Parts: sequence; structure tokens; C-alpha cells
Amino acid sequence: MALYALGDLHLSFQADKPMDGFGSIWKHHEAKIEKYVNRRVKPEDTLVLTGDHSWGRKLSECREDLAFIEALPGRKILLRGNHDYFWDAKKTERLNELYQGRLFFLQNNYAVYRDYALVGTKGYTFEGPFYLDRRGRVIGWDQERERQARKLVEREMGRLRESFRKAEEAGFRKFILFLHYPPTSILEETSPFTEIAEEYGVSAVVYSHCHGESRFGDSIRGKIRGIRYVLVSGDYLNFCPERILE
Ligand SMILES: [Fe+2]
Ligand SMILES: [Fe+2]
Repeated sequence: MALYALGDLHLSFQADKPMDGFGSIWKHHEAKIEKYVNRRVKPEDTLVLTGDHSWGRKLSECREDLAFIEALPGRKILLRGNHDYFWDAKKTERLNELYQGRLFFLQNNYAVYRDYALVGTKGYTFEGPFYLDRRGRVIGWDQERERQARKLVEREMGRLRESFRKAEEAGFRKFILFLHYPPTSILEETSPFTEIAEEYGVSAVVYSHCHGESRFGDSIRGKIRGIRYVLVSGDYLNFCPERILE
């Protein structure tokens, strides 16, 4: 039994959104997802998909994408990404009823893997615009957008606290934290997300959202103050799921 993660499938079986324009890595990426997930993930395993599942704007436009995910091996747990318009955070329970026994939508709740609680939320990260000098160093940024970003981080922190609270109340003391957005912006070394990760002593923080060679290093990766930070963007992993726990 193992726990895997993979993010940003960006499926578009019903939407006219070819991904080829985003670079050769995206060419027939759904075939790669199918191949690599089937190769690695066994029926008894758990696979957490860290958001940006579908280009569909509402559930009726995502049915085929979700059916594709459903057909992948293992237990599938989904996190909300910034492109997942089909998923209203306040209506997560309804999605869980609709897909009961097939897909689990992680929001204001938690899932269980061995003696770990899998907690998470979309998160949020300030992404600029940044102002650069001639050498490409950041010398400023849009203040108004940064204020707005702080509010969105607050809202997401509330949702994440709820996820932790429920898991802790149920007696869990070991956690894996899943975010869609990276835990820190390019300006930060710590953030409310790294602070809560340390507060609860999570074993790992798993995130995606960063696309393209130039963005993979936007946030923290590797072991920092005892916590493993793992980037699982589809294009970063060439769509092969990353093992998080045995
Ligand atoms: Fe994405
Ligand atoms: Fe994203």
C-alpha cells in the first residue's frame, strides 16, 4: 500500500483547450497520465490529485474528465485548483454525495491513510506583478494585489484550519498537508502555510500549480525544519505520480 500525488492534470475531454501550446511536455499528456498512473499505482494505493483537474467551467463540462480520473487505479482524492470552476468550495458535500465511493473531494474535511490524516485546501500565493531591475532582481510589486492576496490567504487558512481541526478532533496526530498553490511566494521563506505545517508537525507539504522550467523553483522544495516539501505539478513529473508514503 502506498500514497501517491500528482497535480495539474488539466484535462479537457469536453472543452476545446488543447494543451500542446504549453510546450512539448503537454503533448498527449492524458495518454502519459494513463500510462504512468497505471504503471505505478496499484488498486490498494491512494492517489491525491492536487488540483486543476479540468478546463470545464461547470460540472456538466467536466463529466468526462472526472470519469477519466475515476477510471485510474487506486483510491482517488481530489483537491481544488484555481481552474476548477466546477467545484464550489461551499458545495463540496454535494460533490462527495454525487461521487460517493468513486472520488473523494478534500475540502473542509480530511481523508485517512494508515494512521495519517490527509488534510488540505487550495491555498493561495501572491504571484505579482513584480517589478524587476535590469538584472532581473525583484525591486517592487503591485501593493494593491498583494493586499488582496493576503485576504485570499486568510480565507484559505480558515478552510485549512477546519480540515486540521476535524482530523485532530478525530484523534489524528500525524498529517500530510496538500495544497494546490505553492506554500510560499517567490518573496517568502515562510508563510501562514509553513507556520501551520510546523504547528501541527506535518510530515510533508505537497503542492503543485507551478508550470514550466522557470517556475518549478518558485517555492520551497526538500527538507526544511523537519518537513518535506514536495512539488508534484504534472509537467514537473512528466505526469508520473510521486510516492509520498509507503
Ligand atoms: Fe495548473
Ligand atoms: Fe493552478
